[in-house]
Amino acid sequence: MLRTHTCGELTKANDGQEVTLCGWVDRIRDHGGGVFVDLRDRYGKTQIVVGAESDAAMLELAGKLRNEFVILAKGTVRNRPAGQENPKMVTGAIEVVVIELQVLNESKTPPFTPGQHELPNEDTRLKHRYIDLRRQAMQDTLVLRSRIIKGMRDYFDAHDFIDVETPILGRSTPEGARDYLVPSRVHNGTFYALPQSPQIYKQIMMIAGYDRYIQVARCFRDEDLRADRQPEFTQLDLEMSFVDSDDIIGMIDGLMQKLAKDILGLDLPLPLPRLTYDEAMTRFGHDAPDLRFGVEIVDLTDLAKTVEFRVFKSVADAGNHVRAINAPGGAAVFTRRKIDELTKFVQENFGAKGLAWFRIEEDGSLFSPIAKNFTQEQLDEIRSRTDGKPGDLIMIIADTWDTSCKALYALRKKVGLALELYDPKEMHFSWIVQFPMFDYDEEGNRWNAMHHPFTAPLDEDLEKLQSAPGDVRAKAYDLVINGYEAGGGTIRIHDSAIQSRAFELLGLDAQSAKERFGFLLDALQFGAPPHGGIALGIDRIVMLFGGLENIRDCIAFPKTQKAADMMTEAPNRVDVEQLEELAIRIIESDDEA
Ligand code: AMO
Ligand code: AMP
Repeated sequence: MLRTHTCGELTKANDGQEVTLCGWVDRIRDHGGGVFVDLRDRYGKTQIVVGAESDAAMLELAGKLRNEFVILAKGTVRNRPAGQENPKMVTGAIEVVVIELQVLNESKTPPFTPGQHELPNEDTRLKHRYIDLRRQAMQDTLVLRSRIIKGMRDYFDAHDFIDVETPILGRSTPEGARDYLVPSRVHNGTFYALPQSPQIYKQIMMIAGYDRYIQVARCFRDEDLRADRQPEFTQLDLEMSFVDSDDIIGMIDGLMQKLAKDILGLDLPLPLPRLTYDEAMTRFGHDAPDLRFGVEIVDLTDLAKTVEFRVFKSVADAGNHVRAINAPGGAAVFTRRKIDELTKFVQENFGAKGLAWFRIEEDGSLFSPIAKNFTQEQLDEIRSRTDGKPGDLIMIIADTWDTSCKALYALRKKVGLALELYDPKEMHFSWIVQFPMFDYDEEGNRWNAMHHPFTAPLDEDLEKLQSAPGDVRAKAYDLVINGYEAGGGTIRIHDSAIQSRAFELLGLDAQSAKERFGFLLDALQFGAPPHGGIALGIDRIVMLFGGLENIRDCIAFPKTQKAADMMTEAPNRVDVEQLEELAIRIIESDDEA
């Protein structure tokens, strides 16, 4: 090694020692007393000093140092003079007086420096990712990511899981996003699909008798990107045999307890709370609710049928829903102007027809422009059902179930944030279970698998598969952390007859089912054990454990919202010869993708 120590470890205990450090120039201060350099590596920073008494050649070299030069400094550790110590740094009590200085490599003036206070825009960070990754925050996150993955591997290793790699070049998998395709040169005109997940392979591993499988698996989905979605992301993928939902949930409960303890020092009581999908939608309007705070939805539909206010009555009479949330202490924060903004927000984003509201005055009375349409009794009833106290603001949406869920969930989120109803550092883990097996696609006029088509129905709902598919609940479970879906899985169908019936309902006739998943249907007939599994979104878990807001900050080399890599400029055009080999012709279009 060129160095004897890292830049993050020298303390008073090293006083008088001769050391050699290597690193990047983080900051230079050049004043009468010599040149002071903060030398940085991934372990920390150490102040090195080229004293005014140094020889001319070294002083000249020190004078040429610039930000991000890579240097080697040999010198002697000494305690800093009293008053110049920096208690915030591990190395803050010492400095290294340089005896020998070498520039290992120069740096052009960087577009930004890792230590600068204000971050440049994200495109600049992504283009010069090697500079961005030098930032402390990025280093911390990548270390966190590495520790989380190691924690996962250790845990599953201790539970007899084996790690199996599955192909990247394969066939289309059933998660339902658009595939990334890879053209075949050997078989012109045909394509591999990159895996949206290792779903089918891991089920086949169960059929093959490997009853506990894990993989840190890269998945590829060509879908609209958001702050919590990347086109290429990583799952902790898991499958087990001879299990039911509780066993998978219990296994992940244990993992979350371990990670919470090891990474955050949190004691997580088990079992983690579970809500059914119906409960989650009824109480929070969403299947991944943020449970760090209350503000539950209150149903006023029955009351709405009895009121004079036409908006409510007509919606309730038509079989739709009138539901409310109460923002505790919200009257002061949500002024008339803010309420107008919220009204526009729910109208524009969710197609809500309006937003009705009541402010609770000091004397407990309800103030609202629509109050005159209600009797005193009805107003009292609204207040008592929403548990309204003076200073609260009750917000009501009258609409279809779907719209009321979406609008109230979004309003609830805004209320939680604006009224600071939770500590942003708090972590809340829960499970949402018993998802519907299918949801109805109005446009396509058919049933879709809510998770994927291999999901098993609840035993007690099996007979409804024919009569009432919309009522069939699945053995499906999602892990939710702070309002994010951090993982999802199901118990699988291991009976080929039930699998065929599920395919039928999904509009996959025997022929197309055979074409797409024939190998799995075949395998199911050669001794398939009952099995199930789950996949955790590692990038999202890192984001949540790291208290971050963007999944791109949790990935060393992420893609932009437009699925591009700013640094390598992928995707890119390829040589005509390459295309010829693949028998592919490009159709030029005017619009830039
Ligand atoms: P699912 O599609 O629910 O299940 O994915 C599992 C978890 O992966 C994460 N995730 C993503 N993270 C970042 N970017 C994305 N585009 C993205 N898409 C999903 C989420 C999600 O909860 N094969 C099944 C699992 C199973 O049934 O065992 C599957 O992939 O955190
Ligand atoms: P209108 O009678 O349409 O002027 O509406 C009176 C009030 O009721 C306004 O504040 C609207 O925002 C609100 N409102 C209208 N439609 C709905 C609805 N579907 N749900 C909740 N509030 C509504």
